[in-house]
Amino acid sequence: MNKDIYINDVGPRDGLQNQAKILSPVQRLELINALVHAGIDGVEVGAFVSPKAVPAMAGTDTICQQLSNNDCHFSVLIPNMRGFELAVANKANIASLVMATSNTMNERNINMDNRRTLAMIKEVIDKAKGSNTTVQVYVATAWECPFEGVTPPSDVMSLADKLLAMGASRVVIADTIGAANPKSVSSLMHALGKAFEHDLFACHFHDTRAMGIANAYAAIEAGIRRFDASIAGLGGCPFAPGASGNVATEDLAMMCEQMGLSTGIDMTNLVDASDLAIALTQTARGGNALAWLRKQYPSYT
Ligand code: COA
Ligand code: ZN
Repeated sequence: MNKDIYINDVGPRDGLQNQAKILSPVQRLELINALVHAGIDGVEVGAFVSPKAVPAMAGTDTICQQLSNNDCHFSVLIPNMRGFELAVANKANIASLVMATSNTMNERNINMDNRRTLAMIKEVIDKAKGSNTTVQVYVATAWECPFEGVTPPSDVMSLADKLLAMGASRVVIADTIGAANPKSVSSLMHALGKAFEHDLFACHFHDTRAMGIANAYAAIEAGIRRFDASIAGLGGCPFAPGASGNVATEDLAMMCEQMGLSTGIDMTNLVDASDLAIALTQTARGGNALAWLRKQYPSYT
């Protein structure tokens, strides 16, 4: 199906890693399958990280082995070469590395400074060239770092340049703590789109200051077509103080569809997936539009 906007749901990883309640792999798989059933373009299904660092992501191998075969693009987060090896062993199609713009954030997140992180990324991308697993890279704290403050756009530009030159399949520009605004999104994404190709980028917005959806609109206007979002607005980062949930998938999908931009998503099934995320976690709030959407798209059952 032709889509105007490609939405990747990161709820099962970015969302669940930060919940007080740890879900079992069976429950996580239930949520992933609900998202697939809604016709979402991609799902970040888990992370091959240290279970001591992020206990909620233990069992990602079990999940990968039970994913259904379909058109959905499944990705896993990896912090290092060990994570890449686990991604390959578990036949993940897409492995996502993360590099923050600041030394402090990289050290807190993956215990490496910028220089070591870049060297590790190069090694992983080189190794991936002989495998069936594609490597994309998240540029975290792209607008602001909770430890080092505002990120100069030139830092993001030069990091994107290096990552693409290394062979990253895509660079996801991430507002890890939700500090961007539509104007700063517009200028950075216009600049990246002009210097490189728009389709080499995706955006990932947290909704800490309720600007996630406005930021997504600004990025669409700047030519970006690929977005992360999180079902029911689940999310946060345990290593970045102040990070709250991602922009909710149902809010983003609704905005796109109402603007005439197709996402390939069945809204009734998406509302069901959001209700499932709320029932499983007992803490997710649901997107801002969820109550309205439930009335427009009552469940089939
Ligand atoms: N998957 C699973 N286990 C891993 C791993 C991986 N990718 N990489 C390392 N480990 C294990 C090691 O085997 C070791 O286990 P042990 O204590 O039982 O011997 C332990 O983790 C520490 O390994 P080490 O190489 O010394 O790493 P570290 O202590 O410097 O920690 C990370 C670095 C990257 C493993 C850890 O910080 C991490 O997993 N971070 C995840 C960050 C994250 O998910 N952030 C989410 C927001 S982007
Ligand atoms: Zn995030």
